[in-house]
Amino acid sequence: MKVSKLLIALFAGALSLAAYAQQPIVIKFSHVVAADTPKGKAAEMFAKKAAELTKGRVKVEVYANSTLYKDKEEMEALQLGAVQMLAPSLAKFGPLGVKEFEVFDLPFIFSDYDALRKVTNGPVGKQLLTKLEPKGIRGLAYWDNGFKAFSANTPIKAPADLKGKKMRIQSSKVLEEQMRSLGSLPQVMAFSEVYQALQTGVVDGTENPISNLYTQKMHEVQKYLTLTQHGYLGYAVIVNKKFWDGLPADVRAQLDDAMEQATRYANQIAKVENDSALEAVKKSGKTIVYVPTKEERLAFKRALVPVHQKMESRVGKDVIQAVYKDTGFKPDSL
Ligand code: LMR
Repeated sequence: MKVSKLLIALFAGALSLAAYAQQPIVIKFSHVVAADTPKGKAAEMFAKKAAELTKGRVKVEVYANSTLYKDKEEMEALQLGAVQMLAPSLAKFGPLGVKEFEVFDLPFIFSDYDALRKVTNGPVGKQLLTKLEPKGIRGLAYWDNGFKAFSANTPIKAPADLKGKKMRIQSSKVLEEQMRSLGSLPQVMAFSEVYQALQTGVVDGTENPISNLYTQKMHEVQKYLTLTQHGYLGYAVIVNKKFWDGLPADVRAQLDDAMEQATRYANQIAKVENDSALEAVKKSGKTIVYVPTKEERLAFKRALVPVHQKMESRVGKDVIQAVYKDTGFKPDSL
């Protein structure tokens, strides 16, 4: 009697262990932008590829639009292991203490995607990702968004037009200095709060690539948008290092493959997505889109390039010089 009870218990135990073993590994991937953005779409692509390549052993749950965490909280959540994967904008590594990442925020440092790619695909990009390791974070890839435009409720054609304006920025000392150089008042605010702050007049204006502006409906509460393309906004896909290192090696290799495919996709669609968001903004008729002349853009560049030197002691002269070398940066021409 006793023996048969023991056998039943053992059998039940084995069954539940088998069921447990079949549970997929869940990766929570949190981000703050809309699903219908370059980052949102690439996150979904990664989820799809991860399921395919691991044959269902991994389930990636994507949480868009700050549904799980806002900007600052998501980084803490990753470090604590409450989420496993994020793709924060590169600006967000400065407040984490890895200030070299703020090189990506320097105004006009990249003339286009190709110049940017030379850095992210080269030794500088790789080296920067390794600086995240002591924070318990592994950097897997760089994903593009695009080049930023200024928006406000008054026309913006010259640096002086932003004087005295309260401008929302991400938490970045470089972006603070950028706004101060224009005589405006930088206001650090979580991305999820920007629409309301613009609507209620808590801030006067902001900067973002068009895909972010459009999908958050900021164009509905900003009368003027100027395509200054004065700075770059992109992402690093990161994971909790302990979680990642603890994955079975075969699963990790399949996920690396999925990430490679999602990264290719992300960097292919970013420009297209921003271009179509711009068309949609124009079509809405809610914002007047202004394309600055070459001279006007150059005036912004001249006003903003001194930020590089001002921020040298924070960002690091060597990293700035290494980026200049990769991109052939020229301070006084476009
Ligand atoms: C912002 O806060 O403006 C951006 O970093 C949002 C994002 O993730 O694109």
